[in-house]
Amino acid sequence: MRRKLVVGNWKMVGTLARNKVLLEGVLAGVRDLRNADCAVCVPFPYLAQAQSLLQGSSIGWGAQNLSQHAEGAYTGEVCAGMLVDFGCKYAIVGHSERRNLYQESDEVVAAKFDTALKAGLQPILCVGETLAEREAGVTDEVVARQLDAVLNRAGVKALAKAVVAYEPVWAIGTGKTASPDQAQAVHAFIRQRVAKLDGQVAQGLCILYGGSVKAANAVELFSMPDIDGGLIGGASLIAEDFVAICRAGQK
Ligand code: PGA
Repeated sequence: MRRKLVVGNWKMVGTLARNKVLLEGVLAGVRDLRNADCAVCVPFPYLAQAQSLLQGSSIGWGAQNLSQHAEGAYTGEVCAGMLVDFGCKYAIVGHSERRNLYQESDEVVAAKFDTALKAGLQPILCVGETLAEREAGVTDEVVARQLDAVLNRAGVKALAKAVVAYEPVWAIGTGKTASPDQAQAVHAFIRQRVAKLDGQVAQGLCILYGGSVKAANAVELFSMPDIDGGLIGGASLIAEDFVAICRAGQK
């Protein structure tokens, strides 16, 4: 049985004061959570705050991006070693906002994945199609291409220490969730693609769904056989909602 994982992606939102209230609310709400893991991926400047508030708790934390390079002359960038310094367990790579707004190619995402993994972080690799791609019937092709870039660079065994998040771009922040069946179909496709290379890795692979997950739809989504939890944007900013989604993971 794969254990469910629920990860909050705060994106570029937060203040010291607001984060404290949010994290204390989540800490209180998930104290008795069993059979599910939860984590938050916060903006870089708040990693120290996440570390000081969450250390010793069952809640993990991580970053939303990292540089593919080791330390050096890369003004404005943050490397994997810095994330490790602040106790990060996870690093999201290839979120569609990074791919689309910052032109991160499949190759750059694969390099970031590799760098994170080698530093001992668990990369959360985001894949997913746009609305135009879904309507053109190329969802599987797009997801396969994004996944293969990482498989080709890091090898299938690397996925044993990573998480994949299927996030249809049209469902992110739009209130339009993929139906449980739509999401399940892509999750199964991802698992099968990995299984062709390594059945055991595929069986153990944690595949999250992301895109307008709310307390109201989480139980149904998480009950699908290949959906192992969620990557939560908007709803991770409200303690009560995020806690309810984490709880949906233990049902
Ligand atoms: P959303 O974002 O839950 O606000 O749709 C999900 C994500 O971008 O990871």
